[in-house]
Amino acid sequence: MRIAVIGANGQLGYDLVRVLSEDHKVIGLTHKDIEVADYKSCEVLKDIKPDVIINTAAYHNVPACEENPDKAFLVNAIGARNVALIARELNAIVVYISTDYVFDGMKRMPYDEDDTPNPLNAYAISKLAGEFFTKYAPKHYIIRVASLFGVKGCRAKGGLNFVEVMIQKARKGETIKVVNDVYMSPTYTLDAARTIKLIIEEKLPYGIYHVTNQGVVSWYEFAKAIFELLSWKVDLIPVSSSEFPSKIRRPKFSALVSKKLPKYGIQMRHWKEALRAYLIEKGYLQG
Ligand SMILES: NC(=O)c1ccc[n+]([C@@H]2O[C@H](COP(=O)([O-])OP(=O)(O)OC[C@H]3O[C@@H](n4cnc5c(N)ncnc54)[C@H](OP(=O)(O)O)[C@@H]3O)[C@@H](O)[C@H]2O)c1
Repeated sequence: MRIAVIGANGQLGYDLVRVLSEDHKVIGLTHKDIEVADYKSCEVLKDIKPDVIINTAAYHNVPACEENPDKAFLVNAIGARNVALIARELNAIVVYISTDYVFDGMKRMPYDEDDTPNPLNAYAISKLAGEFFTKYAPKHYIIRVASLFGVKGCRAKGGLNFVEVMIQKARKGETIKVVNDVYMSPTYTLDAARTIKLIIEEKLPYGIYHVTNQGVVSWYEFAKAIFELLSWKVDLIPVSSSEFPSKIRRPKFSALVSKKLPKYGIQMRHWKEALRAYLIEKGYLQG
């Protein structure tokens, strides 16, 4: 297949290019090559004539989205629409990367693909709108991921992810306070990329898929696991999220589970195994 990856130098995009290139012709597009918010710019896809377009592009710094909802909608929603319209014209499959943040957290149990979204902030609303616009393309996959960590680091977070932030703070000898009342599904981008590859290759029915490592954990427990795996003694303190007051509403529970993937024999490993693999890949741990 010819597969175009938008956001190819991003955290997830980088792993998608790595994994898909093993068996397919991959055309990686960075922000310099395409501006998803601009339909004319998206026409570059018409020259590439891909069978599959994977759209990882996002404006996803949550506080920035709250400050600039117009930009959040332009990139995350209108961008998804532009890409989906071109996919429809090319009769290509479009894959839109969405988020656990489409849910409000009230369920207090992992959300599956049939649960009803109720986004709480501008970022989340714009991503849910992007999901709807993606449906312009009859052949579409909406892939919800969560709490990503990958070797490339998140460009929207200055090339870091939560694991790297923890490691940096520990190296500086800081006392680290982490919230112990917000739960999620940490997800290794390499595992997410492998699963997305399978979804496409196995021609799973079009629609929504939750693609996260297994398990539910608070950010504090996740940080604790990082340092336990590294055997580092760190001054790590669990705190309530009320210690970090913010005007931005976020779900306090946004773990995801897939009830669809196991039906097709696809099971992602537990986040702790994935974290170990990440630490090895980064060279922090011996394999
Ligand atoms: N990171 C997480 O924890 C997380 C959690 C849930 C869902 N997600 C979703 O997962 C996806 C990938 O996240 P990630 O961590 O890989 O993010 P990332 O590292 O910031 O990568 C995003 C990529 O998209 C590009 N991009 C941004 N705006 C664009 C635009 N308007 N047009 C074209 N390209 C644009 C970025 O390029 P520049 O940096 O050069 O602008 C970058 O290459 C996003 O859709 C995000 O909403 C992420």
